[in-house]
Amino acid sequence: MSVTGSEQPAPGSSAGSGAAGAARLDPWLLPDVAGLVVGILGGTGEQGRGLGLRLARAGQRVLIGSRDGGRAAAAAAELGSGVVGEANDAVAAAADLVIAAVPYAGHAQLLAGLARSLAGKILVDCVNPLGFDERGAYPLAVPEGSAAQQAAALLPDTRVVAAFHHVSAVMLLDLTLERVVGDVMVVGDDRSATDTVAALAGRIPGMRGIYAGRLRTAAALEALTANLIAVNRRYRVHAGLLVTDLAR
Ligand SMILES: NC(=O)c1ccc[n+]([C@@H]2O[C@H](COP(=O)([O-])OP(=O)(O)OC[C@H]3O[C@@H](n4cnc5c(N)ncnc54)[C@H](OP(=O)(O)O)[C@@H]3O)[C@@H](O)[C@H]2O)c1
Repeated sequence: MSVTGSEQPAPGSSAGSGAAGAARLDPWLLPDVAGLVVGILGGTGEQGRGLGLRLARAGQRVLIGSRDGGRAAAAAAELGSGVVGEANDAVAAAADLVIAAVPYAGHAQLLAGLARSLAGKILVDCVNPLGFDERGAYPLAVPEGSAAQQAAALLPDTRVVAAFHHVSAVMLLDLTLERVVGDVMVVGDDRSATDTVAALAGRIPGMRGIYAGRLRTAAALEALTANLIAVNRRYRVHAGLLVTDLAR
C-alpha cells in the first residue's frame, strides 16, 4: 500500500481540496495514511508495544517484530487489537512503513541486516542514544551525528525520518488515558516522508505530528530526551512536549 494519492485536508484547514500548490504550502494538509501497514522493529519492548497498541486502536494494521518470532507473536496476542507479531526481518519485508524501536546498542547491526527489505520504504527512527550514570541520563556521541543519521547511512535506499522520541511508553500503554497528549517532532529530508509520519502521529488521539527540520538536526531531538528523563525523575511524571503558537 502506498501513501501517494488522496490528501485529506486536516480539520480546520483552510486549503482548498485538490490544489496541489496549496497542499505544499499548508503544513496541516497531510496524506491519508489509514491504509499503511506499520511494522515495528523491537516491537516487544515498551515503546514498540505502546506505539503498536495506539496505532492499532486507531485502525492501523500493525506488525510488531522481534529477534524471536515466537516472542513477537506472544506480545502481539497480549496487545490484541489485531496486532500481529513476527520476526523483525518478516516485519521489515511485509510492512509499508517501519519504525525502529530498539535500544541504540542494537540499532546499527539490526538495520544493516535489513537494508534490502527496507529499500524504497520509510524508516521511522525513535532511538535515543543515551547513557546513564549516577547523575542521570546523558546523550551519547554517535559517529554519524545521531541514531537517525546512522540509520540513513546504513540504508541509502530508504527514506529515514526521526520521530516519536519524546512519547512516553508508559502513557501509550496506559489505556485509562483516552488521549496521549503531546507533539511529535518529525525531522527528515524528504517532505513526503515527513508528512506521512506526521499524519501517522496524528492518528493517535491527542497527538500532533509537527515538521521540525532536516535529518541533520535529529541529534537535538534525541539528546532532549535526557532532559525529559530528568524532568520525569524530579517531578515524578511522564513528560512530553507541546509546541506553542501552532494555531489549530
Ligand atoms: N521507553 C520509552 O518510553 C521510549 C520513548 C521514546 C523513545 N524510546 C526509544 O525507543 C527504543 C526502544 O525503547 P524501549 O524502552 O522499548 O527499549 P527495550 O524495551 O529495552 O527494547 C525494545 C526491544 O528491542 C529488542 N532488542 C533489545 N536489544 C536488542 C539488540 N541488541 N538488537 C536488536 N534488538 C534488541 C528487544 O526485543 P526482542 O528481544 O524481542 O528482539 C526489546 O524488547 C529505544 O531506542 C529508546 O531510546 C523509548
